[in-house]
Amino acid sequence: MTFDRSIKIAPSILAADFAAFGAECEAVEGQGADWVHVDVMDGHFVPNITFGPQMCRALRPHIRGTMDVHLMIAPVDAYIDAFATAGADIITTHLEAGPHVHRTLQAVRAAGCKAGLALNPGTGIDALGHLLDDVDLVCVMTVNPGFGGQRFIQSQLAKIQALRAMIGDRPIHIEVDGGVDAVTAPLVARAGADVLVAGSAVFKGGSVADPTPYGTNIRAIRAAAEGARTAT
Ligand code: DX5
Ligand code: ZN
Repeated sequence: MTFDRSIKIAPSILAADFAAFGAECEAVEGQGADWVHVDVMDGHFVPNITFGPQMCRALRPHIRGTMDVHLMIAPVDAYIDAFATAGADIITTHLEAGPHVHRTLQAVRAAGCKAGLALNPGTGIDALGHLLDDVDLVCVMTVNPGFGGQRFIQSQLAKIQALRAMIGDRPIHIEVDGGVDAVTAPLVARAGADVLVAGSAVFKGGSVADPTPYGTNIRAIRAAAEGARTAT
C-alpha cells in the first residue's frame, strides 16, 4: 500500500447481506470501493456482536484490495495475530480498549499490518501526540460504535480538524466512521479526512443481484467529498 491523501471510500459490510458477505465484498469492489471495511464487535466493548477472525479469513479471497479491519473488542492484544493471519491489511484498535495502547500498536505492526487507532466520540486527541510515530491511520468515530445507521455527530468535525493539524506531513490517514453519506462527506473531507467509511449510505437500494446502486452511492459520496476539497 502506497500512501496518499486522495479520497477513499470504504464500504462497511455491517450494512451488507450477512448471508452473502463474500459476494457483497466483490460487488462493492466491482462498483468502485477503494477499501472494504470489516467491523468486528464482541458484545463487551460495544453492545453488539458480529464475527471474528474466521470470517475475515473466509472473506480474504473475495477482497482484491485493502481489507480494513476495525476491532471493537476488549481486550484486543490476544487476538491481533489471528486477524493478521486471517489477511487483514489494516488493523484498527480502539484507544479505549486497554491501558497499553503503545504495546497494541507495536503488536499490530509486528504482525505485518498497518496500525490504525480509533477514537470514540467522547475521546480527545491529546494522547495521540505521543503515538504519531506508531500509527498509520487514525479513525474518528462519528457515531458511538456498535451499530450502523446512526446519526452523524457534528461535534467530531472540530476533532478531525485538530487531528489534521497535528498530523501535518506525516503519512497517517484520517478515517471517519459513522453516519457518512453524501451530505456529511463534504464536511469531513473539508475538515481533513481522506478515508470515508460508509455502511448504510453505500448499501442502500442495492443487492448482490443488482449492485449498480452501490456504484451510484459510492460515486455520490466521492463526488461530494472531492467537491468540498476543491472548493477550499
Ligand atoms: C459502527 C461501525 C461502522 C458502521 C458505519 O460501529 O464501526 O463502520 O458500520 O455504518 P453507517 O455508515 O451506517 O453509519
Ligand atoms: Zn467501523
